Amino acid sequence: METVQTDLVHQIEKYNQVEKQRSGEMAYEHLIYRIKSVDSMEEKCRRKGLPVNAHSALVELRDAIGLRIVCRFLHDIKLNIDYIKQIPGCKVIQEKDYIHNVKPNGYRSYHMILELEEPFRDVDGNQPGKFYAEIQLRTIAMDSWASLEHQMKYKHHIKNAALIGQELKRCADELAACDLAMQTIRNLLQEEPEGEEENQ
Ligand code: GTP
Ligand code: MG
Repeated sequence: METVQTDLVHQIEKYNQVEKQRSGEMAYEHLIYRIKSVDSMEEKCRRKGLPVNAHSALVELRDAIGLRIVCRFLHDIKLNIDYIKQIPGCKVIQEKDYIHNVKPNGYRSYHMILELEEPFRDVDGNQPGKFYAEIQLRTIAMDSWASLEHQMKYKHHIKNAALIGQELKRCADELAACDLAMQTIRNLLQEEPEGEEENQ
């Protein structure tokens, strides 16, 4: 499991380097990843009404391996999606575009479930095996919003839940407007001719 995750992470990190050399800018700001803990796997199997076993956790749930790619600009999300889709042995089996289909609370991100074919034996005994990973792609703005909103889930008795929810939604929409404006400014700057010192 960890080797599968490491391979995928290496491919994406390699892409970031290549993109930096090609265009002078990184394809993403940072990448984080985790293997889901046994406790969370068990809890999620129960929540989804699945038998609590390795097959459920690794094949039915499909997010035992989780990666999050955080980008500076909206268009970088697309670059990374296109790259991931052409990684050999990697098939996208589900996509959720919460950037265009924003969740009612304001959550934005692009989610993909990948099916990875790797030379190792999987939990069902196939070799090469099939492994699954969830990738979330978002901008820095979407990421800071999601972590703030996530904190709410750990507080059980929030006094001003309705007000906080409303304010979070407003922030999410303002951040989205800024993400768009930043992308537009970036496009405009890229159309400008290079500075003289760059041309020498
Ligand atoms: P779960 O995997 O059980 O969460 O349901 P699902 O498979 O329908 O999930 P979905 O693809 O919608 O979301 C999976 C993950 O995205 C979650 O575990 C979170 O990390 C993140 N996510 C989705 N919705 C929200 C949200 O409203 N707020 C925040 N902070 N994170 C979210
Ligand atoms: Mg999920």
